[in-house]
Amino acid sequence: FQPKTLSGRQVLITAGPTSEKIDPVRVLTNRSSGKMGYAIAQAAREAGAQVVLVSGPTALATPYGVNRINVESAAQMHAAVMSEARNSDIFIAVAAVADWHVANASDSKLKKKADGHAPELQFSVNPDILADVAGMVSGPFCVGFAAETENLHQNAEAKRQRKGVPMLVGNLAQQAMNADTTELVLFSSQGAQALPVLPKLDAARRLVREIAQQSSTPHQ
Ligand code: C5P
Repeated sequence: FQPKTLSGRQVLITAGPTSEKIDPVRVLTNRSSGKMGYAIAQAAREAGAQVVLVSGPTALATPYGVNRINVESAAQMHAAVMSEARNSDIFIAVAAVADWHVANASDSKLKKKADGHAPELQFSVNPDILADVAGMVSGPFCVGFAAETENLHQNAEAKRQRKGVPMLVGNLAQQAMNADTTELVLFSSQGAQALPVLPKLDAARRLVREIAQQSSTPHQ
C-alpha cells in the first residue's frame, strides 16, 4: 500500500533513450531501457498523481493509469515536455537524452560509395530539456538524474547546482542500465541521502515519497 502523497499533483516524467535519425533506416541511440523512468511513473501514479510520461522508444508496457506520449528524437522530447511543463507541478527527467543529433541527416537512404569511403556525419548539440524546464519562471519542481561512472557524490552535487535543480538523483551508470535493481543517492539542499540496492520499483517508491515531501516545502 502506497500513501497518497501526490494526490492531485501533476507529474511529468521523461524516460528511455532518444533516437536520432541518420537516414530513413538508420538511427543513433543509447542503451537506456526506460525501466527506471517507467517505475517512477508507476510509483507516482500509485501515490495519487496524474502522470504524463514522455517516452523515447522502449519495449515496456505503459504503467496502469499513466498518460504516455511517444517520441523519438531529443527535439521531439523537448517539444512535448515544454508544452506539458506549464501544467505540471513536478518534472522528473529520467530519459537518457542524446547529447547530439546528426546535423546532416539524409531524407533518403545513404548509399555505399563506389570509392569505399564512409559517409561523414556532422553533429549538432541537442537542447537540454531539464535545464530549460528548470529555467522556467514559476515552473515545476525539477528532479534530475545523473548516471556517473566515477566520483558519484562530487559529480552529482556539481551537476545539481549547474542544472539549477532542487533535487538530483545519482546512480552508477554501468550498474543501472537495463538492470532490474538500482542503488540511488539523492542530492538536495538538505544534503545527500543514500538508498540501499533495491528493485527499481521500490527505489522509485522511496524516491517519490522524498519528492512529495521536498516539493511541498519551500526549497532553494
Ligand atoms: O548533463 P547530463 O546529461 O548528465 O544530465 C542528466 C540529466 O539531465 C538527466 O535528468 C536527463 O534526463 C537530463 N537531460 C535532459 N536533456 C538533455 C540532457 C540531459 O533533460 N539534453
